Order: sequence, then C-alpha cells, then structure tokens
Amino acid sequence: MRIDVLTLFPEVFEPYLASSIVGRAIEAGIASVQCVNFRDFALDKHHSVDDRPFGGGPGMLLMCQPVFDALEEVERSHDVEPVRVLLTPQGERLTQALVMELARERGLIVICGHYEGFDERIRIGLGAREISIGDFVLSGGEPAAMVLIDSVVRLLPGALGNESAAENDSFSCGLLEYPQYTRPRDFRGMTVPDVLLSGNHAAIRAWRESQAYHRTVSRRPDLVGPDIDAEEKG
Ligand code: ADE
Repeated sequence: MRIDVLTLFPEVFEPYLASSIVGRAIEAGIASVQCVNFRDFALDKHHSVDDRPFGGGPGMLLMCQPVFDALEEVERSHDVEPVRVLLTPQGERLTQALVMELARERGLIVICGHYEGFDERIRIGLGAREISIGDFVLSGGEPAAMVLIDSVVRLLPGALGNESAAENDSFSCGLLEYPQYTRPRDFRGMTVPDVLLSGNHAAIRAWRESQAYHRTVSRRPDLVGPDIDAEEKG
C-alpha cells in the first residue's frame, strides 16, 4: 500500500515511521509512506499556507491553493486512484471496521488539518473521506494521521509476524480481547487462571470466548447490542 501524508509538520512522522511494526512493514516493502509539506507549494516569498478568516474571528485558516496543488501533484504520481482522507474532528468516527476497509485500498492520501481549521472549500472541493479519531480536538491532524496509518498498516498481509495476531484484536470480531498472561505464574499474589496452564486447548478457547464476551458486555455493552439482558452486565 502506498500512503502519502500532506502535512505542515513532516518531521514529526520520521521517528514514528522508523519504529516498530510500521517501520518493519515499510522496510519489508509492505507499505510505503511519504510525507509532503504543503508549505513547499506556497506561492509567495513567505511560503504562506494560512490566512485570516473572512468575516473575522480568531486564528488563521489553511488556504485552498497549497492543499489542492500538493494533492494534485501527489495524485499524478499514483498508478491507481488513491482514497483521499481528510482528518478532522467533524469526520466519521474511525472504527476497526473502517480501518479494515481502508486496509483493502491500494493507496491513501492523508491530509492533516491545521490547528485553527481550514477553508471550507478544501472540504467541499476535495470530496475526501472525512475521518475523526474521537470526540476531542487535537491541535493538528498529525497525531490522528499516525493513529490511522498504524491501525491500517498493521492489517496489511505480512505486517504482523503472526497472521492470526490481528484476528484476535479487540473489535476485529466485534468483541474486546480476552485477558492474557505471561510468566511468572504468580506475581505478588496475582495468579494466572488455572485453565491457561491446563494444556486443554478446547477449554482454553472456551474460556477466552467467554471472557471476551463478558468483558465486552460489562465494559462496552454498545458493541454487543442494545437488547443485552441487564443481568449480564454485572
Ligand atoms: N484534528 C483535530 N482533531 C482531530 C480528531 N479528533 N480527529 C481527526 N483529526 C483531528
């Protein structure tokens, strides 16, 4: 998968993209991520990318021209039309289902909004998929872009060492993940459930399914459905 990030702060992505699962996936050629700075597309000598809002009000808005020019140049270099993603707190909520959908694409262009907002014609003219990572406001789209890239790249075939690892993730089967333990068997009096030490794989599977279900009902009943019996929530 090819991902291009349009941002005013390309440098914040570097350490992240060099680390861990995303870094390994890039090294293995499973994903490529390029960052493009809108500022390189500014036309004036000050390299301006923002301006004051018409009608007054605080702050500065990201202007259309550098964003459209950057996007169009990046798109010309894609073989297959990429999906345009605009990160904004007003977008549809990022969920594991949406992450799975994006992971099936060949290319993504991820546009990071600006602290104080952007010209409405960026939203209207780009027709991008607007995505929010949650009901809170970040000072820019960059942390949201990293969240999106991480969640998508780890689903690409070969990105996780063990293919089944992503299948057990919380949310991927509609439930939160079951609890897990590693050595020692007893840590400060907190012991590992006997079933996990039993070697009985059927019993372990049943225990995990039951834990995942009850955990989801008690912590996130909204994931299980509105009709869940109140008794089960305990
Ligand atoms: N930019 C600012 N806040 C954001 C959020 N919650 N999600 C995505 N992009 C954002």
